[in-house]
Amino acid sequence: MQAPAGAPARTFANAPEASAVPAAGAATAASAEDREWGLDELADAYAYPDPPYGPSGAYLRANMVSSLDGAAHHDGRSKPLSSDADMRIFGVLRGLADAVVVGAETVRREGYRPARARAAFAERRAALGQSPAPAIAVVSASLDLDFSLPLFTEPLVPTIVITGAAASGERIERARAAGAEVVLAGTGPSGRVDAAAVVTALKELGHTRLLTEGGPTLLAQFAAAGVLDELCLAVAPLIAAGDAKRIVDGPLLREPEQFALASVLEEAGFLFTRYRRIYP
Ligand SMILES: NC(=O)c1ccc[n+]([C@@H]2O[C@H](COP(=O)([O-])OP(=O)(O)OC[C@H]3O[C@@H](n4cnc5c(N)ncnc54)[C@H](OP(=O)(O)O)[C@@H]3O)[C@@H](O)[C@H]2O)c1
Repeated sequence: MQAPAGAPARTFANAPEASAVPAAGAATAASAEDREWGLDELADAYAYPDPPYGPSGAYLRANMVSSLDGAAHHDGRSKPLSSDADMRIFGVLRGLADAVVVGAETVRREGYRPARARAAFAERRAALGQSPAPAIAVVSASLDLDFSLPLFTEPLVPTIVITGAAASGERIERARAAGAEVVLAGTGPSGRVDAAAVVTALKELGHTRLLTEGGPTLLAQFAAAGVLDELCLAVAPLIAAGDAKRIVDGPLLREPEQFALASVLEEAGFLFTRYRRIYP
């Protein structure tokens, strides 16, 4: 993985073709050494900006992986699109977050488990007053979740379940009995949660460094609500075809949202891009 040469990272290690086409405004950046980055270096590179944050009062970063042809999963799982380096960055982004927000379908399909406390991030987290591991926050209208799973019964930090006002009282009780913290963030009869209210609810719980790991349905709602501040997109050197969703799956936005490239890292043909929202 390539270092950002001590500057705003625009580096293309192992990718001579790409380095010949630097991003607009970037210095040509083929100089950084090609080596595996330590977790600390990655954590520095991906550190959340200092508050105050944007319009939502929190900072919501998404971490997603896509195939070259835009598939967000292969046969229902994202793992076939991932790599060791992708998982390393995945772990670092978790290590920096107060809370990880995820849609219930991703939890069901990917068999989510609680986030771990990792020694590599302990000091950094303590200095910022963060819990040893991020809380996982699951967004669900149906609450059709298996509350006997370790995600709910064994987390270091109670798992948060964010649901709407129409949620089943009996399922809410099951979630609470398992140890989850249930937050109501939707008022309508549909049971749907307003995406901006998810961010507000987490902020009110003291979580401002937010990470969403998708899936595409939830991410589309964060984008539509105008609360997505950053996208960390891993581009996998794979073609999947099929009918998999793109990483953002929802109704057309009235205007495309603009993002600026903050950094690019490369390993084994994977590009690890980081884009920050430009607010109008
Ligand atoms: N490429 C990647 O980086 C990546 C990342 C994550 C996931 N994935 C893949 O994406 C697929 C899953 O994504 P998905 O788009 O189908 O689903 P998703 O976004 O993970 O979850 C959708 C579910 O979240 C709940 N939800 C979403 N918006 C809600 C709202 N406004 N109010 C209340 N509940 C809401 C609903 O749960 P209920 O049904 O419980 O009501 C809904 O069915 C999987 O195949 C996974 O492998 C890929």
